[in-house]
Amino acid sequence: MVTSYKATPDIDILTSNVPIPGMGLVPLNAFVLHGSEPLLVDTGMGVESDEFMAALRSVIDPADLQWIWLTHTDFDHIGSLHRLLAENPKLRVITTFLGVGIMTLSAPLPMDRVYLVNPGQTITVGDRTLTAVKPPVFDNPCTTGFHDDKSGALFSSDCFGGLFSDVPQNAADFAGDDLRNGQILWATVDSPWLHKVDTATFHKELDGIRSMEPTMVLSSHLPAASGTMLEQLLASLTAAPTAQPFVGPDQAALEQMLAEMAAGSH
Ligand SMILES: [Fe+2]
Ligand SMILES: [Fe+2]
Repeated sequence: MVTSYKATPDIDILTSNVPIPGMGLVPLNAFVLHGSEPLLVDTGMGVESDEFMAALRSVIDPADLQWIWLTHTDFDHIGSLHRLLAENPKLRVITTFLGVGIMTLSAPLPMDRVYLVNPGQTITVGDRTLTAVKPPVFDNPCTTGFHDDKSGALFSSDCFGGLFSDVPQNAADFAGDDLRNGQILWATVDSPWLHKVDTATFHKELDGIRSMEPTMVLSSHLPAASGTMLEQLLASLTAAPTAQPFVGPDQAALEQMLAEMAAGSH
């Protein structure tokens, strides 16, 4: 089920929870930035495209959208991309050269409808200026988030995401260590290369985010977080490289799970 809530009066979050067997829920967010040139950040996953489109229609007429900011081309971000492009001929996709290239392998983007940005570059969309940002943690080489000068929010793509047992609408509402533990687990699953990074280099990347002083951190896989939580969110990432590396269930574990399911069905 895809639902919506407001991060600010002019930013809606479209969200659903993706269950990972035995591990918890990954929140999956897309964002609608209202304004003189409305922008959608990512487009959900294909298996719930109908629900995504219904939730989108509840906050904006998709015909009014001018832009899609595609943070990256993973399947949980491109689910309704082509449907939206087909419905709205004026809609353009902000992405990178590599993003366009990866899309070419399955569902090419029309070249006259893309707008290429690289980290550090800006694009003006109506009353907002968006500065493209390479987040310090990512799972796809074309990943590009951005900072919105109007709201002050950082859209961080998969960075700062988490795996949780319950997902509140505000990251401040997690109980105890759930936020920290969920973020660290997600980072080890989604970005296992973190275990190999040079500490000083990684900390410099985190400092880059710190220096932006975002008013909000809006991750694709975390409830809305106030900028006052930034240090807490960064501390989780700081701990991720030395956390237990993730190892998925192997064939023996799969066969045991299947046997248990078969026994349970008799
Ligand atoms: Fe991703
Ligand atoms: Fe993602």
